[in-house]
Amino acid sequence: MFRTKTCGELRIADAGQSVTIAGWVQRVRKMGGMTFVDVRDRYGITQVVFNNETDAELCEKANKLGREFVVQITGDVAPRSSKNPNIPTGDIEIIARNLKVLNPSVTPPFTIEDDTDGGDDIRMKFRYLDLRRPAVRRNLELRHKMTMEVRRYLDSKGFLEIETPMLVGSTPEGARDFVVPSRMNQGQFYALPQSPQTLKQLLMVAGMDRYFQIVKCFRDEDLRADRQPEFTQIDCEMSYVEQNDILELFEGMAKHLFKELRGVEIKEPFLRMPWADAMKLYGSDKPDMRFGMEFVELDDIMKGHGFSVFDNAAYIGGICAKGAASYTRKQIDQLTDFVKRPQIGAKGLVYARVETDGTVKSSVDKFYTQETLRQMADKFNAEPGDLILIMSGEDAMKTRKQLCELRLEMGNRLGLRDKNKFACLWVVDFPMFEWSDEEQRLMAMHHPFTHPKDEDIPLLDTDPAAVRADAYDMVINGVEVGGGSIRIHDSELQGKMFEILGFTPEKAREQFGFLMNAFRYGAPPHGGLAYGLDRWVSLFAGLDSIRDCIAFPKNNSGRDVMLDAPAALDQSQLDELSIAIVAPEKE
Ligand code: AMO
Repeated sequence: MFRTKTCGELRIADAGQSVTIAGWVQRVRKMGGMTFVDVRDRYGITQVVFNNETDAELCEKANKLGREFVVQITGDVAPRSSKNPNIPTGDIEIIARNLKVLNPSVTPPFTIEDDTDGGDDIRMKFRYLDLRRPAVRRNLELRHKMTMEVRRYLDSKGFLEIETPMLVGSTPEGARDFVVPSRMNQGQFYALPQSPQTLKQLLMVAGMDRYFQIVKCFRDEDLRADRQPEFTQIDCEMSYVEQNDILELFEGMAKHLFKELRGVEIKEPFLRMPWADAMKLYGSDKPDMRFGMEFVELDDIMKGHGFSVFDNAAYIGGICAKGAASYTRKQIDQLTDFVKRPQIGAKGLVYARVETDGTVKSSVDKFYTQETLRQMADKFNAEPGDLILIMSGEDAMKTRKQLCELRLEMGNRLGLRDKNKFACLWVVDFPMFEWSDEEQRLMAMHHPFTHPKDEDIPLLDTDPAAVRADAYDMVINGVEVGGGSIRIHDSELQGKMFEILGFTPEKAREQFGFLMNAFRYGAPPHGGLAYGLDRWVSLFAGLDSIRDCIAFPKNNSGRDVMLDAPAALDQSQLDELSIAIVAPEKE
């Protein structure tokens, strides 16, 4: 046998056994006549001892080992004299009898330990070494367990796992497509799926009734901590369901995942919050509900007192930070700088402290009487010791989003965003459309296949911007972990939707003829949802970026620095595809 034990399994009960292990050299330490070698594999670390007195030749061989050498060691398990309580194998060591170097290693560019000395770029370039680090490997193990549990849960609910193609046509979902040229159809391109949306709907027309797929999706959009150009969805679709059936089933799945993977009992049913309320109370369609600090609107109280910033504002709103009245001038200046950062773009911040005697001291005292300030504080139910932070602006939606950033920042500062606490909710009743300044037209907020709320259908003709959709997002701790909708299953309504979205009938037929045609052959009512697998894993692992739960992620410029992709093609390959590069090559 190559190895009889892994590096993670030996315990004190194994003392006296002869064993063979194999793995990477983590560390070599010489102490007196002894050499200690820590050997690592996927399962853990085991200490091996070489004794110069009993076998000088073998000990000499061990002294020559370098970091990340691959070794095979045979020896006897013995209790350790100085135990290491930090690792599961810390009670034992192996007294080596034989050492075989299976493969030497050049010195790695960073230490393969949880707290590595390697910067981001270098770790990405040598990702296969980075993945040897237990902290990163654990994320992949969690990811594996999650997909296993997802399959188990969905199988138990009668879902069929069906693969859909990766080479498809373009579907508009808001992002740009990654495209693939076709050699056999010169001048034509496939698109990689942004999601299998239309295909899963066709599977419903095909009578599959309940579909799921753990599927790669591709979107050419700007990257953020929770966005990768290729990411994985747990994509689902169901026939003969109403919105509530879907929410219940996927709440059940969330509960299952929390229990199996985190040992956490999540309370059901999840809070269901209309989109309009989420925007009004938290300035976000994905509010972090681990803490309150809801927005309070102050237009009625704060306007008309001669403070021109407020007098000219379309929106004045604030939050109350419990116990933060002790904030120093410097801390408040930091908050002001925070909201003025270009990414947030606010002009400023007004504060009001509730003093121990109940009086309110604000940065705009000269415009307001104590009575008005007190009335204002009462709207927040503010108590002595609280700090009220107020923002205003000429665009209500924009100001709410800015206030949302401030709320999250205060949540961080006050320690209210504990990674081990989970607050789940559904945001429902999204608007059907949103106005695009760039395109100067209404765009589908979710996607063009989303069903409008029945009671809002008449508004499609009169006030489409006011139409709400049967669309929902699952939000946990301020992260959108999934989204979906009830779909349109009627070709006439679908045609109308395309019309409102500015598609000519020809363009709609060209792009979606296959779907509208399919709907003419008895399409069942259907709906579904897709969870973002990467976001779920990073939520459970407490990660700041989804990159850390992806084996080979792209960097912030969308590059794979290890494979050095994307890259230019050989001229012969371009010729074969009839592609000419006109853009100047980048340095
Ligand atoms: P949506 O676009 O909301 O819906 O995507 C579903 C979920 O996928 C995750 N997600 C991402 N994760 C990482 N990187 C990205 N770039 C990225 N984009 C999205 C999010 C999101 O909630 N076809 C519909 C689903 C449906 O209606 O059934 C869709 O793709 O967690």
